[in-house]
Amino acid sequence: MTLATPQSTTAESLLLAPGVYFLGAGPGDPDLITVRGQKLLQQADVIVYANSLVPQQVLSWVRTDAEKVATANLTLEAIVPLMIERVKAGKSVVRLQSGDPSLYSAIHEQMQALALAEVPFEVIPGISAFQAAAAKLNAELTIPGLVQSIILTRISGRTQVPEAEELATFAAHQTSLCLYLSARHVEASQTQLLAHYPADTPVAVCFRVGWPDEQIWVVPLSEMAAVTQRENLIRTTLYIVSPALKGAAVRSRLYNPEHTHLFRPQVS
Ligand SMILES: C[S@@+](CC[C@H](N)C(=O)[O-])C[C@H]1O[C@@H](n2cnc3c(N)ncnc32)[C@H](O)[C@@H]1O
Repeated sequence: MTLATPQSTTAESLLLAPGVYFLGAGPGDPDLITVRGQKLLQQADVIVYANSLVPQQVLSWVRTDAEKVATANLTLEAIVPLMIERVKAGKSVVRLQSGDPSLYSAIHEQMQALALAEVPFEVIPGISAFQAAAAKLNAELTIPGLVQSIILTRISGRTQVPEAEELATFAAHQTSLCLYLSARHVEASQTQLLAHYPADTPVAVCFRVGWPDEQIWVVPLSEMAAVTQRENLIRTTLYIVSPALKGAAVRSRLYNPEHTHLFRPQVS
């Protein structure tokens, strides 16, 4: 369902259609929000935001008269009726999530409840933590001849991962693997990953990427748990396990003179 596009960046022009806008805020750095996301923040009547993960700076664009609702200590039973009530009163609501809303953001159940209440909504993408971390690492996670796939996953915690998606099963593919929500279970994660990745596979341990206190350590897989425990990382930590982080000298076919294609035909 697509709602009306914001027409201007000025706070005075309130042209947003009533509805809920699920907005990806990016990983932390306020500059990493989309232009569309910034416009929505500048125009919305109500901002419902996950204050445990969304940095305060992102809220600096919000209208001074906008209602701000922090959700860290609220349940779905409180959040959804609030959004429905505001939209039915003719207001535009931005539901601000960290990173990209398609990953571990619990929007599925919110969208279902809104659809049931016949409240219009729209999803606006954001930059996920793995993309921001790869950029900070100056890394391409899909290097030809080395690795061509990325797995985005987590280990079981209070939310169980389906059996077919056990970490050790994914590790068998030895792809680039981005591990969310797993710092509290880092020892089990490391053990499962070591079932298939060589112990010297590089792992980037990425803490609060894009935040002022960001820290990134690149260590062999065999040290992933030790670094996490030494630095006392329990939240907002993403792991990227990847042969691509080895810095091997390989090149793609795309810009290879011997590789011809539609836009660079063979010159005879
Ligand atoms: C509830 S999930 C939200 C993920 C988010 N939707 C995304 O696309 O990045 C929270 C987890 O994402 C990862 N994460 C989110 N923001 C991060 C950041 N700035 N730095 C490192 N990890 C982050 C961590 O693994 C954290 O435990």
